[in-house]
Amino acid sequence: METLLENDVMIDENISQIMDWDSLTFSIYPTKSMFIAECDENGEWRTGNLVPYGDIKLSPAAGVLNYGQGVFEGVKAFRSSKDRIVFFRLEKNAERFYTSCERVCIPPVPVELFMKAVENVVKDNSDYVPPNGKGSLYIRPVAWGTGPVLGVKPAPSYTFLVYVSPVGPYFKNGVKPLNLKVTNRYHRAAPKGIGNAKAIGNYSASLYPRKLAINEGFDEVIYLNAADENLVEEVGSANLFALKGNVLKTPRLAGSILPGVTRNSALFLAKEELGLDVQETDLTLDELLNADEAFCTGTAVVISPIGRISTDDAPYVIGDGNTGKVTSQLREMILGIQSETTKDKFGWIKPLNS
Ligand code: COI
Repeated sequence: METLLENDVMIDENISQIMDWDSLTFSIYPTKSMFIAECDENGEWRTGNLVPYGDIKLSPAAGVLNYGQGVFEGVKAFRSSKDRIVFFRLEKNAERFYTSCERVCIPPVPVELFMKAVENVVKDNSDYVPPNGKGSLYIRPVAWGTGPVLGVKPAPSYTFLVYVSPVGPYFKNGVKPLNLKVTNRYHRAAPKGIGNAKAIGNYSASLYPRKLAINEGFDEVIYLNAADENLVEEVGSANLFALKGNVLKTPRLAGSILPGVTRNSALFLAKEELGLDVQETDLTLDELLNADEAFCTGTAVVISPIGRISTDDAPYVIGDGNTGKVTSQLREMILGIQSETTKDKFGWIKPLNS
């Protein structure tokens, strides 16, 4: 296989002695290796292999660079309290990756190849999985149109790559309740667009609104639906939930919402374990602003409480501005399952090498 590698990266020898596990943030830390597989004009993915982590070489006419033909996933591996490395609902990410590929005309990466690639990278980089309770190994599978293309059409060839980085909390203030800005100047995704796929274009659309919000002192942006700006959709990097009394609502998967794995887990746990009335439905801005509790969910953010939300007109405090009881319960349940301090009643944990 022709490798896309350009420069190898120096690898630290005694990772666990060198790493400051207490200071992890959500950022890139170069590791030992990454996985690369290629797909030719016939649409067949080759087996792929591990190569040293490093830069890659691309044609300037690559489909991903010119027309954004790319998708990705976010997965985490945890060193659990049983001192083994585990994945949380990995097959869900593999299935979503498959459908995201289909949406942007990338030959879908078979679920088995996805799982095997992720497992092999994590095994080879196991020294970089933080100690239990100190963070996780974030896994970033990507599929890109890497063949050259000039007209607007699918690229002639593709690359599936998986790299990893040890990470800590996604937001700079850890789990402190978030301060979010509602925007009605920008939309994240259009109805019938690519909002329900983990396509890279959705994230480039969110960069500018995010920059404006960060400059104003907010943590992230809440997007409204493009059709009439009456309903809330997502936070740029996560799904959104609002609790009022016993009713927990999250925007329904109507085409522009990402079907989050943590979203799905929170819905399940809220219903089965907490007995809440769980609704995937329309969620109005008014309902969100008047919620008893609000939080966002995602692999990167886990379950992050929302303390304040500002519109152009006024700032609002959600509940008493602190992390709500249900938000804490759901966060603890998910972290407990991921760290194997809580029994995995639902078969969500898959140990590495099982
Ligand atoms: C994740 O939650 O893993 C994501 O992919 C969201 C974000 C970091 C882009």
